[in-house]
Amino acid sequence: MKRVFSGIQPTGSLHLGNYLGAIKQWIELQNKVDESIFCVVDLHAITVDRDPMLAENILSVAAWYLACGVDLSKSKIFIQSTRPEHAELAWILNCFATVGELGRMTQYKEKSEGKRDSVSAGLFDYPVLMAADILLYQTTDVPVGEDQKQHVELARDLAIRFNNKYQGVFTVPEPIIREDVERVRALDNPSKKMAKSAGSEYNYIALDDTPDVIRKKISRAVTDSGSEIVIREDKPAMTNLLNIFSGVSGRDIRSLEADFKGRGYGEFKKALAEEIILFLEPKQKKYREIIADKAKLRTILRDGSEAVAPIAQKTLDEVKKKIGLGI
Ligand code: AMP
Ligand code: TRP
Repeated sequence: MKRVFSGIQPTGSLHLGNYLGAIKQWIELQNKVDESIFCVVDLHAITVDRDPMLAENILSVAAWYLACGVDLSKSKIFIQSTRPEHAELAWILNCFATVGELGRMTQYKEKSEGKRDSVSAGLFDYPVLMAADILLYQTTDVPVGEDQKQHVELARDLAIRFNNKYQGVFTVPEPIIREDVERVRALDNPSKKMAKSAGSEYNYIALDDTPDVIRKKISRAVTDSGSEIVIREDKPAMTNLLNIFSGVSGRDIRSLEADFKGRGYGEFKKALAEEIILFLEPKQKKYREIIADKAKLRTILRDGSEAVAPIAQKTLDEVKKKIGLGI
C-alpha cells in the first residue's frame, strides 16, 4: 500500500518554488498511489515570528492546494493543528531524537545563525514535528523540494530507531524529489533558493501575482554574463529560468534551448513571463472561486481531519502501548 503525505507552511504567499518543487509532484502522485494526504502545517508556521495573518494564510494555502489540482476524490486535505496526535507523537519522538542530530539540520543552522540563544525551541524541534506528521500516517512517499530531504531522512532514522527497539510500528518513508527542478532559485540571486521569507519581492513569483507584476519581476530577473540561453553549470541564472519555463509549459529543455538559440535575453524573458501568466491564470481563477466560499472550505478541511483521524490514532495508540505509556 502506497500512501503519500506532504505539507506546506502557511507563512505568506505560495510561490513557483512551492509549486514546481512540491505541489506538481503531489498532483502527479495522487493518481498513482492508494491514498494521499496533504496537510497545512500551521504548527510549523509558529516556530518563527508569529504572523497576524496566520488564520487567513491557513485557508489560503488550503485553497491553493485545491486550485492547483489536489482532487478530493483521491486525496484528503486538513489542518495540522486540528489533529492533536501530531503534537503528541512529536513529544514522544523528541525522546528518541538527539540534540546532536537536530543541531546538524541545515535549515535550523541557517535560520538560527547568529541568534542561537534567542530562536525558539520550536525551531530546533521542527524536524521532529515533521517526522511525527509523516510517521503518524504510515507514509511510504513524501514528495518535497530538495531542501526538505534532510528532514525526511531524520524521519526515516527515527522510524528505524523506534522499530529496532520495539519491533515495528512505523513504515519507513522515502523522500520523493524531482530531479529536474530540485530547487527553484531566487530570481534576484540564483545562488539562493526561491523563498517567501525573502527580503525582496523580486526573489519569487507568487502564485497570486498579477500579469503586470510577473512581467516586471521576470524582466528584472538576474541573468548570467554572455548571451546564450542554455542550461550549464556556469549559467546558474539561465538554468533556473529555463527550468521554470519548462516547468510551467511542460516543454523539454532541449527544445527550449533550440528555440531560443541566437535570440536575446530580452526576448526570452518576454516569452517566459507570458508562459507563466498563461500557466497561473486558470489556477488563480479557481483559487478565487474556492476562497470566496470559506464556509465550504472549512467543511472540507474538517472532513479531511476526521477522515485521517483513525490512521493517526491507531499509530499513536500502538506507539504508546509499545513504550508502556498509559494504562
Ligand atoms: P515551505 O514553503 O518551506 O513550507 O515549503 C513547502 C514545500 O515547497 C516543501 O516541499 C519545499 O521543499 C518546497 N519548496 C519550497 N521552496 C522551494 C524551492 N525554491 N524550490 C523547490 N522546492 C521548494
Ligand atoms: N518542513 C516542511 C517545509 O518547510 C513542511 C512540512 C511539515 C512537511 N511537515 C511535513 C513536508 C511533512 C512533508 C511532510 O517545507
